[in-house]
Amino acid sequence: MSETGEKTATFGYRDVDVAEKPQLVREVFDRVARRYDLMNDLMSGGVHRLWKDAACAKLNPRPGEFIVDCAGGTGDIARRLAKLARGAQARRGGASAQVMVIDYNAEMIAAGRQRNPHPEREPELLWSVGDALALPLPDATADAYIIAFGIRNVARVEGALAEARRVLKPGGRFLCLEFSQPPSAPIRKLYDAFSFNVIPAIGERVADDRASYQYLVESIRRFPTQERFATMIREAGFGRVGYTNFSGGVAALHHGWVV
Ligand SMILES: C[S@@+](CC[C@H](N)C(=O)[O-])C[C@H]1O[C@@H](n2cnc3c(N)ncnc32)[C@H](O)[C@@H]1O
Repeated sequence: MSETGEKTATFGYRDVDVAEKPQLVREVFDRVARRYDLMNDLMSGGVHRLWKDAACAKLNPRPGEFIVDCAGGTGDIARRLAKLARGAQARRGGASAQVMVIDYNAEMIAAGRQRNPHPEREPELLWSVGDALALPLPDATADAYIIAFGIRNVARVEGALAEARRVLKPGGRFLCLEFSQPPSAPIRKLYDAFSFNVIPAIGERVADDRASYQYLVESIRRFPTQERFATMIREAGFGRVGYTNFSGGVAALHHGWVV
């Protein structure tokens, strides 16, 4: 049982023992790691890039900052942040920012590192195998924390929010980009038809793995609505909480500050 008393966690449409979920999710990402970036482009028609760019612009990395990209996978978000931070440093001067990718799946981290054969050209990036529920960082050390398409996969969403709050400094920025629930019924209907019929089929064709992509679409449906998730962020101790819907609410960017 978790310390908040939950015995079960969602795994797609199944309820599983809370202790079982991390291994089940780990196996999903072990299977998809090699094709992960390609699959994101195919499933979203490239739109995930626009959502990620908007999330990184909102985070607005500044020279000298220490930023956590939690459940960072192959480092897609971290590389965008590093690029923005380099631009800010060129304009304003100051020390280089550091962006730490933390992911509990060593396969995803390895796939991300292999994407760049010249790591010396990305001096801002740090890679760490670690758990969103027990971040390998002391209290109040990060200026900003972002988690993109990751929090839905952790066994206890409240636990991940508490860890984010713990590692952020006063004034720190929390951002979460996640698939969400389109508020409009017609958009929801179209989106459901696409997700349940097309996404698992692409997974089977391209990654030879239907089950992982069936998990993806089911896990999105079980994630809290935008309003409920905003409440959870407030309950974790963040202030000035809000969110922006992307693509009619297919994804949402939530934010909260340590006030
Ligand atoms: C859908 S991927 C997102 C990767 C990346 N943030 C992106 O947007 O491309 C979800 C990631 O969450 C990671 N993950 C799931 N549970 C985790 C946990 N408890 N701690 C750290 N990482 C976790 C998985 O290993 C996977 O790499």
